[in-house]
Amino acid sequence: MIEAYTIQALREAVAGWRLRADRVALVPTMGNLHDGHLKLVEIAKETADKVVVSLFVNPSQFVEGEDFQSYPRTLAEDMNKLQSAGVDMLFVPENTEVYPQAMATVVDVEDLSTILCGRFRPGHFQGVATVVCKLLNMAQPDVALFGEKDFQQLMVIHRMVADLNIPVEVMGVNIVREADGLAMSSRNAYLIEPERALAPCVYEALCWAQQQLAAGNRNYAQIESAGLQRLQRVGFRVDYFSIRQSGNLWSADGDSDHLVILVAAWLGRARLIDNLRFDV
Ligand code: PAJ
Repeated sequence: MIEAYTIQALREAVAGWRLRADRVALVPTMGNLHDGHLKLVEIAKETADKVVVSLFVNPSQFVEGEDFQSYPRTLAEDMNKLQSAGVDMLFVPENTEVYPQAMATVVDVEDLSTILCGRFRPGHFQGVATVVCKLLNMAQPDVALFGEKDFQQLMVIHRMVADLNIPVEVMGVNIVREADGLAMSSRNAYLIEPERALAPCVYEALCWAQQQLAAGNRNYAQIESAGLQRLQRVGFRVDYFSIRQSGNLWSADGDSDHLVILVAAWLGRARLIDNLRFDV
């Protein structure tokens, strides 16, 4: 596995592969890799000839008071995992490589960025869209892979790529879960023992809501408040529990066929997010 620390080294390698007509995939990450990330790598290997993983804890997507300083950083372990997974190149830029000067230009995907998680983390999706746009310009991959675990992030990126004509194919990858249903996340490390035992309640609440939809219940507001209360009752601080149209994240109405149930809830220091789709 080649390690690249500069944009120039990254570009030279990718240009060489491109010259041989290799299809290049980019998997952007913030490190502290788990099986969810490795699933993206696995799918990337299936769809492309060369796989680049970027590892950059992007300060601009952490909102005031969030965990940028304490975000888990495990570079040595991450490198071993990526090497074993057969990644061709790891791109690990310093902060100064990504942000050599204060940014005068940002990418703001309107509307999609201010709902759901955006309401509770103002500025977060602008940070994500901006850094992903930069990473796509740095690596110039044919395809970039993102997890459906961060469903709203995936929608923001799809919309940015469409609006700005970025020449890349965006691929979403299914959520990877622990055996008890908890969606894998670097932030699960913040859960202390009694919290870890409660954490699968998030997925259970989503499954319950999905069953309600499957049984024909179309009283979305009632399902949302019951889902929220289920989590509050066992000690979660719930940011939202919401049923939306999966194509655009607009509120679901009686005619919506493609739905997604999204949840964000705090348990101790950990903010857990998860979602489940339902097609009528
Ligand atoms: P990070 O949280 O490290 O996640 C990197 C990628 O892995 C994202 O596309 C995320 O959706 C995916 N992922 C995380 N957990 C997953 C799971 N359990 N199953 C499937 N995919 C999963 O998301 C980010 O980093 C950043 O916002 C980034 C896109 C890198 C921009 O900084």
